[in-house]
Amino acid sequence: MNLTELNRIATALVAPGKGILAADESSGTIKKRFDAIGVESTEENRRDYREMLFRSNEAMSRYISGVILYDETIWQNAKDGTPLVKLIEQTGAIPGIKVDEGTQPLPMCPGELVTVGLDKLAERLKKYYERGARFAKWRAVIDIGSGIPSMTAISVNAHALARYAALCQAAQIVPIVEPEVLMDGDHDIDRCYEVTSRVLNKTFQELRVQRVALEGMVLKPNMAISGKKCPKQASIEEVAEKTIRLLRACVPAAVPGIAFLSGGQSDEEATAHLNSMHKRGPLPWGLTFSYGRALQAAPQKAWSGKAENVAAGQSAFSHRARMNGLASKGEWQSSLEQKAA
Ligand code: 13P
Repeated sequence: MNLTELNRIATALVAPGKGILAADESSGTIKKRFDAIGVESTEENRRDYREMLFRSNEAMSRYISGVILYDETIWQNAKDGTPLVKLIEQTGAIPGIKVDEGTQPLPMCPGELVTVGLDKLAERLKKYYERGARFAKWRAVIDIGSGIPSMTAISVNAHALARYAALCQAAQIVPIVEPEVLMDGDHDIDRCYEVTSRVLNKTFQELRVQRVALEGMVLKPNMAISGKKCPKQASIEEVAEKTIRLLRACVPAAVPGIAFLSGGQSDEEATAHLNSMHKRGPLPWGLTFSYGRALQAAPQKAWSGKAENVAAGQSAFSHRARMNGLASKGEWQSSLEQKAA
């Protein structure tokens, strides 16, 4: 393992002004997104859509540090035959790959899930590296509800995250460690804070036990945020303040960077939260976005599967990428959103 190189990649992923495009929706998830805009989820449509994003050259080169791909996409070529991975590299962004294989019910723990995909992971990583991937992602899912999460669910998911991270580093790939505490319930922000704190502490304990080099990884957490169905929604300032407090308490300064998931927040909320956190610096790690929905909802709608809408889709994507790029330096203002509308 070359830790200097892993650290270089991890640091580049969280460079100020840039963040990660999470375009790694599984076939099931992208079908849901396409259903919402009335587009059939064929292999060609999925390729055309992602090619549209990766050919947004200015946004990609200025605001996007890396792109997380799904297995199908990493092997696909653009319409003109260029591998999609090459299109990404040409913009200066780093190609990455989602390597978990989704979730399964966790035995003895009703309603809880464990992420799978460790079998043969070492072989898969080797092939992804040869294709150009320099970082990877594994997502664990923790739900908040009555009596959950159990310590069992937190523990087995943290263990799998650390197993994955160690295998990635051995294959010279930077692991993005994503323990996502869902915002689906009616819990308040303080419950989210408390559960996320337990999850992060257990995750870092496992990473240490399994000898993962913290200097060569990126953490992808949820923010401390109210559940979507909670009657009392925390303000932008409260989310920023509590998230920074939580991360300062749980994430060692040796970690080069933190890149948030958006998790169902609206586009503008996800941007405003990140921006507000940067008003509370200086911070010990790079802090940016690794958004899926909050970067793609607008371009998906603008595109709607029509070739004549590619420019509109790219313009919607470029706008969100720029807004989040500014937020990653604390330079975003809501008036910038109105001007673009
Ligand atoms: P969202 O930003 O839509 O939550 O997606 C990010 C991601 O990669 C989830 O695994």
